[in-house]
Amino acid sequence: MIKQLKNKRIYISLIILIIVISAMTIKLITTQKSEGVEFVIGMSQANLTEPWRIAMNQEIIEEARKYKNIKIVYKDAGGDTYKQSKDINELVSDGVDLLIVSINDSEKLTPLVSQVYKSMPVIVLDRAVEGYDYSLYIGPDNETIGNKAGQLVADLIGEKQGNIIEVQGVLNSSPVIARSRGFKEVLNSHTNLKVSRTLVGEWQRDETEDKITEALKEDNKIDVIFAHNDYMALGAYKAIKKLGMENIKVIGVDGLSGEGGGIELVSKGILEGTFTCKTGGKEAINYALDILNKKGEIPKKIILRSDKITLDTVYEYSNKKSKIVDTSKKIALGYAQLITESKWRDANAKSIKKAAKQQGVDLVFLESGTTQEDQIKLIRELIKRKVDVISFSPFVTSGWDDVLREAKNAGIPVILSDRSVDSDDSLWTSNICSDFYEEGKRASRVLIQHFGKAKVNILEIEGNLGSTPTIGREAGFNESISNQDNYKIIETVTGNFTFDGGKLVMKNFLKINGNKVNVVYAQNDDMALGAIEAIKEYGLIPGKDIIVLGIDGTKEALRSINKGEMFCTIECSPLLGPKIINTAKQVIAGIEVPLAIVNPEEIFTGDNSAKEIKNRQY
Ligand code: AHR
Repeated sequence: MIKQLKNKRIYISLIILIIVISAMTIKLITTQKSEGVEFVIGMSQANLTEPWRIAMNQEIIEEARKYKNIKIVYKDAGGDTYKQSKDINELVSDGVDLLIVSINDSEKLTPLVSQVYKSMPVIVLDRAVEGYDYSLYIGPDNETIGNKAGQLVADLIGEKQGNIIEVQGVLNSSPVIARSRGFKEVLNSHTNLKVSRTLVGEWQRDETEDKITEALKEDNKIDVIFAHNDYMALGAYKAIKKLGMENIKVIGVDGLSGEGGGIELVSKGILEGTFTCKTGGKEAINYALDILNKKGEIPKKIILRSDKITLDTVYEYSNKKSKIVDTSKKIALGYAQLITESKWRDANAKSIKKAAKQQGVDLVFLESGTTQEDQIKLIRELIKRKVDVISFSPFVTSGWDDVLREAKNAGIPVILSDRSVDSDDSLWTSNICSDFYEEGKRASRVLIQHFGKAKVNILEIEGNLGSTPTIGREAGFNESISNQDNYKIIETVTGNFTFDGGKLVMKNFLKINGNKVNVVYAQNDDMALGAIEAIKEYGLIPGKDIIVLGIDGTKEALRSINKGEMFCTIECSPLLGPKIINTAKQVIAGIEVPLAIVNPEEIFTGDNSAKEIKNRQY
C-alpha cells in the first residue's frame, strides 16, 4: 500500500515537473518572440558525435546569426530515435514556427514528420523521409556520390585484380543504401574489382579503426578501402598505419574543411580522395525564411553538388576564391527545343519565354527537329552564337558528353531543364526538374489505394524510350507494384508522349486483346487522353470498364477526371521558366547553385480536380 502511494507521489511530481518545464520553455519562446524575434525555428539533430553533423549545426548557427528576427532552438537526439521523436514533440508543443530535422532513422520517424507537417512547415535535411510529407528536402545525391567513389576506386586500381573493403555508416540508413548502391553499380561493371568485405563503422572513427584492424589481420590482400565518410576513413587509415600496411589506399566522403576534415586528410596524403557532401545548413535557414515569409514557390527538393577532391585538385578547391557576385550583367540564354510533342512541352516553352521577358533576359529560343541529333545541332548553333548560358530538355538520357564538353570548353554553363542526362555532372551546372521516380510511385500508390487486393491487369503506355521521365516513371511504378501479386503489367508499349501515340497503342491493344486490362497507366496525360478516345471508339466506358491514369496535371486531364473518364493525374509541372531564368542569372552572377532543384507536385483525382481546374495554367 505504502509502495503504491510512493509510486503515485513520484508519478504526480513527474507530471508537475514536465508541466513546469514545458511552461518555462513556452515562456522562453514567448519571451524570445517579444524581444523582436519574429520566428522561432526548431532544429532537431540526429546526433552531435559525427563531425559532419557538428559542421551542419555550426553552419546553421552562423547563417541564423545574420537574421535578427529568428531564433533557433536546438535539440540533439544523441543517435537515439526515441529521443529524437521526443525532441520533435517538445519543439512542436513549445510552439516553434518551423521544424528543421536531420533524421536518425528515416523509416521510424517518417510518420511523426508527416504528422508535424500537418501543423507547420518542415525542412528535412540530409536523410530523406519516405514519401512527400514535408515542405522541402535539402541533401546530396548519395547514389551519385557512390558512383563517383566507385569510379575513383577503378581509376586507382586500374586493370589489375583489386580487392576492396567498403565501410558503411549506420546500417540501412538512407545515405548508406544509396551510396552503396551507386558504388556497387560502378564496381559491377569492372570484372577485376571485388568488394571482399563490407563493414559497418556507424559513421564513427574508432569503431572503424577496430573493425579494420581485425579485418586486415584476417586478410591483408586489400588494395582500397572506401569509407562512407571521412571520419571512418581516418579510422581505417589509423588501422593501416598501425599494421604497417600503408600500400592500402583509403577514400572517404564529406570533404569538410578545418582540422581533421577530409580536405586536410587529402592534402596530407592520408586519403587518396574524398567527395564533398555539403550539409545544407545554410540553405535550410534561407529557405526557412522564404517559407515563413511566404516568398514565392518553394522547391520540393534541393540536391547539393558533390565535388571529387584528390591530391591534384585539393589545393585549387581549398583556395578557390569566392566568386565576386555581380548581378548587373545582362545575359543571353540559349534554349534548344525539339518540335513540341505534347501540351506539356507547349506550356514549358511558354513558361520559359514569359520568364525571360519578365526578368529581362535575352532569349535565343531555337526550335526544330525531332531527334537527339537535331537537338545537338541546335546546341552547337547556340555555342556558335556565344550565348551566356545554354538550357535544354534532353530528349534522351545518354549521348550528350561530347556536346556538353564543347559547351564547357566554350565557357558556356548548361542548365538542364525538366529531364536529365547520364553525363558526369561536371559537364553541366544545374537541373531544374521533377522527380519522375516519385511520380511513378505515386501513380501506383493511387492504384493500390483504389483497387486494394482486387486483380489488376495493366497496359503501360510509356514515353519516348530512353528519356529520364520514361525510365523514372517506369521504375517508380514497378517498384511499388512489384510486391503486389494481384497487379500485373500485361504489356508496355511506347506512345512517345503524344496524344496520337497513346490512342494508337490503345486501339491496337484492344483489337488484339479486347478488354484484357482493367487499368491503363499512361506516362503522360496526352497519351492517357488518346487512350480514352480509343476506349470509347471501341465501345467500352473509360472510368468504368478501364481505369486510366496519366501524369502531368494538364487542364484537359482535369476536365476528363471531372467527366469521370480519366481516374487521376500526377502533376509534373512544366512551369520551369522562372527557376531556369533565375538559376541562369545566378550562375552568371557567380552564385553557387544546387545540382538539382526539384518541383513540388500534387495528385489530382475526382476529389480535388473540380476545385483545382481554375488554377491550372496549362
Ligand atoms: O519530360 C516531361 C515529360 O515530357 C512530360 O511528362 C511529357 O508530357 C513531356 O512530353
